[in-house]
Amino acid sequence: MVMEVIGAGLGRTGTSSFCDAMDILGYKCHHMKKLLMDPTDKSSKLFYNTFLNKSAANWDEVYEGYNACADWTAAYFYKDLLARYPNAKVILTERSFEDWYKSMKNTIYTAFRGANKLEPGHPRYEFRELSRKIIVDGYIEDDDKFLDVEFMRKYYDDHIKEIKEVVPANQLYCFQLGEGWEGICKFLDKSVPEVPYPKVNSTAQFKERFNVKSIDSDTTETSVAPVQSL
Ligand code: A3P
Repeated sequence: MVMEVIGAGLGRTGTSSFCDAMDILGYKCHHMKKLLMDPTDKSSKLFYNTFLNKSAANWDEVYEGYNACADWTAAYFYKDLLARYPNAKVILTERSFEDWYKSMKNTIYTAFRGANKLEPGHPRYEFRELSRKIIVDGYIEDDDKFLDVEFMRKYYDDHIKEIKEVVPANQLYCFQLGEGWEGICKFLDKSVPEVPYPKVNSTAQFKERFNVKSIDSDTTETSVAPVQSL
């Protein structure tokens, strides 16, 4: 199985729905949450080692059994993946910066602020270390950067800009969050499924799943229980 579709959009741009959509279309899509849900899965360690020593990356091994990928892992490594799989199609899931930032702040950022420290040897250690380093390029735990809205706007815009420069136009589809099947199916040369395009992993669902208490998205005041499962 060779990588056919690279989802290069950042987390909180509808990557879970996108991955589910790929599965519906007949692909086998890898999402970073897989590493979280199954900490014993070998891919956490492989991704972590790949981050630490890119030259050792064996993408065939990392993505064994998958032909599509999404979320932070795919977005962070998309150029390396494209170099390894030059014929892969790239899909950039996009939404407005404001919606993305609010979603990030209320979910992943808040969860990280309440997360317990993990020691080496813990089953989720590699996953956590990888997450800390690749989610928003490591700014997730750097309040000076993450809470600087204009800095984060530039980070977000630069990611999109770079993808549009790097990926050949005929290999790239920009998917606006909220659109349905039509464009993506045309791009992938697939029939439009009868089921609606997926819609999962809302802020409310994330908070419930990870026990992230509500915060006011316009302030930095948080009330967070330790997040055991992150
Ligand atoms: P909110 O946090 O604003 O609710 P990801 O899966 O990458 O973490 O992204 C989740 C975000 O995408 C959530 O945003 C979720 O509501 C939104 N989303 C997912 N599928 C969607 C769809 N089909 N239409 C509109 N928004 C969607």
